[in-house]
Amino acid sequence: MLYNIYMTLNELQTKLSEIETSINSKLQTCQDTKTLQDLQISALGRKGALTELLKNLKDLSLEEKKLFGPKSNALKQSLTTAFEAKLAELSLKEINENLNKTKIDLTLPAFPFNQGKRHPLAIAQKRMTDILSRLGFVWAEGPLIEDELHNFDALNIPKNHPARDMQDTFFIKNTARKDFVLRTHTSGVQIRTMQKQKPPIRIMAPGRVFRKDAIDATHYPVFNQIEGLYVDKNVSLADLKRDLTVFMRGLFGQKAEVRFRSSFFPFTEPSVEVDVKCVFCEGKDANCPVCRGSGWKEMLGAGVVHPNVLKNCGIDPEVYSGYAFGMGVERLAMFSLNIKDIRAFYENDIRILEQF
Ligand code: DAH
Repeated sequence: MLYNIYMTLNELQTKLSEIETSINSKLQTCQDTKTLQDLQISALGRKGALTELLKNLKDLSLEEKKLFGPKSNALKQSLTTAFEAKLAELSLKEINENLNKTKIDLTLPAFPFNQGKRHPLAIAQKRMTDILSRLGFVWAEGPLIEDELHNFDALNIPKNHPARDMQDTFFIKNTARKDFVLRTHTSGVQIRTMQKQKPPIRIMAPGRVFRKDAIDATHYPVFNQIEGLYVDKNVSLADLKRDLTVFMRGLFGQKAEVRFRSSFFPFTEPSVEVDVKCVFCEGKDANCPVCRGSGWKEMLGAGVVHPNVLKNCGIDPEVYSGYAFGMGVERLAMFSLNIKDIRAFYENDIRILEQF
């Protein structure tokens, strides 16, 4: 709005009080901060009504200036104060309205959020299966609820074997013909694979197994194994020794020493147990808490597949031979991560798990 530069003092004073009344009445009815800010700009801004009016000051006489100047400054001052007060009042009102509108979910986790990580068992299992897959083993799986044929009979485990005792195995009674068990080992996957696939076979079968064990630092009724099976023409104990040595060195470092001890399993002949030189004391500490001074740590069971097992799966043992192994993921993980108590894996104490 432009004003006639030749306005008289009277005209200016009238205009000034018009501006005062008009702005004050708009201030009264103003309901929100956005309108308030626009109003403030239109009144006191660089091109606002009052600023424009004050441009006429220069055309007044000194006397008139003395009269009009302080008056207009006082108005400017009082309007500024009024705008500030109104802004505070409206801001508070708007904040409260927004808070009432927003639904805050107090059950949400507080910021900063914890970032998820892999479980140490998953880390350990992945390291093992990564090495095995580089050795040519492909992933295989079987059911956790297994029938007695796959868990025992076809593996050459006779009816009177202690593994079949109610003390060791979770049996699931089934009123229809057959009993089922929670699989006590992953070896049943050997049978399932050989039943549907003919050699060459090279599989790894990771997964959960169940035993009726009392819980202590090294036993838990559910734990994980990785089964390995290699069947082809002319597979021998020498292949087993080579592959498991490569595997253990992949896991524990190129200098790891591996020892094969003769043992017994119904489904392999000959059978071996595989030990690794203690990575903590290297056999030098008679009081080592990890290997208890023996210098070695038992890692897994293995052997040359028993001819009966091949026969049970329709594979001719005169043509084919194989090796198999089964290892406990927890046992290897505890050894490589130096975890003293198997319960640490399952109690889900974040303070313990997040260290790995
Ligand atoms: N199934 C055995 C167990 O749970 C481990 C095992 C030993 C698996 C020898 C094998 C093997 O495949 O050849 O104790």
